Amino acid sequence: MNVFIQTFGGTGDEIRSFFTPGRINIIGEHIDYNGGYVLPCSLKMGTHALIRKRGDDTARFASTNFDLQAEIPLDDVAFDPAHDWANYPKGIVRLMQDDGHTIGGFDILFSGDIPNAAGLSSSASIELVTATALNDVFSLGYEPIELVKLSQRAENQFCGVNCGIMDQFAVGMGKDGHAIYLHCDTLDYKHVPLNLGGYTIVVMNTNKRRQLNESKYNERRSECEQALAFLLRAKSASTSCQFDTKLTDLTPEAFAELSHLIPDETLRRRARHVIQENERVKQAVAALESGDMETLGELLNQSHASLRDDYEVTGLELDTLVSEAQKNPVCIGARMTGAGFGGCAIALMKKDAVDGFAEGVIAGYEKVVGYAPSLY
Ligand code: GLA
Repeated sequence: MNVFIQTFGGTGDEIRSFFTPGRINIIGEHIDYNGGYVLPCSLKMGTHALIRKRGDDTARFASTNFDLQAEIPLDDVAFDPAHDWANYPKGIVRLMQDDGHTIGGFDILFSGDIPNAAGLSSSASIELVTATALNDVFSLGYEPIELVKLSQRAENQFCGVNCGIMDQFAVGMGKDGHAIYLHCDTLDYKHVPLNLGGYTIVVMNTNKRRQLNESKYNERRSECEQALAFLLRAKSASTSCQFDTKLTDLTPEAFAELSHLIPDETLRRRARHVIQENERVKQAVAALESGDMETLGELLNQSHASLRDDYEVTGLELDTLVSEAQKNPVCIGARMTGAGFGGCAIALMKKDAVDGFAEGVIAGYEKVVGYAPSLY
């Protein structure tokens, strides 16, 4: 509150406060844009926003995490590279205006504890906290799911990042103590209790910023589309090649029969990851619901191997972090989480052994990579 007043002036009257979390994805990586199943869950870490209406048509954005501040006239909300992080909340304003809403002037101060560029959805979190705050303060009447979709559109259309729906959904629809079993095509979902028995999930940050992430991400999306196009072409030519319209409509068994229709070996591996990962999500939910932690752990290990070998989105840092975790007998499964190419991994491990585990992973990682990871 004090920082808000120091930054924007005035008194504490009429300042409203909002919060949205970050997320990890337990399993189901690079599946959302292929229309299949994912299993993310929201974190305690997140983004706070303090907001106050102004009497004019100006919006001012500030953050306790960054020096950069932005001030914009609300009749001209356009992407500006110089505004850096503030383009995320600006995108929300713009998309709400495009929906026909009038947004009056406001000052907003963000404060977050999600590490940036770590793959824990700090961008989705700032989008959703802005969307939630503006919806409330200006009585716009959006339902939570509409704010989720609007936030994804803002990231796609305003910021030019071609992400799927998972991050915004996980951030906007999370529930304490639960993961979200989401079908990314229909958006049908259920909250699955995260009863991990004697185990816990440790988030491990490679501390490698996800450079190059976006171009590689788009490349993978396009490879999936190309693989699918080969299968769809074969489908229209033959009655023996039958499946719906997405890679994730195929079971691993059906794919084994059809994979020869994809002539390119790399594309075949990309498709195989997607189809097998989608299946693993269903198995992971069953394991979670029956309290079978060993199976859940094994699925995490399989997921990482597939992302490393077939999808090729890991790299030295994530592979080292995951293998250092897997080496330790108190850990029953580990994998990268998020887009990959750096960012974070998760480990499923015995609850009472976190300290010793952390020491071993940090030392082993530092030896190979040259700097330390962070564990949460
Ligand atoms: C990023 C994207 C998500 C999703 C994951 C990979 O986090 O924002 O939409 O595609 O990568 O699963």
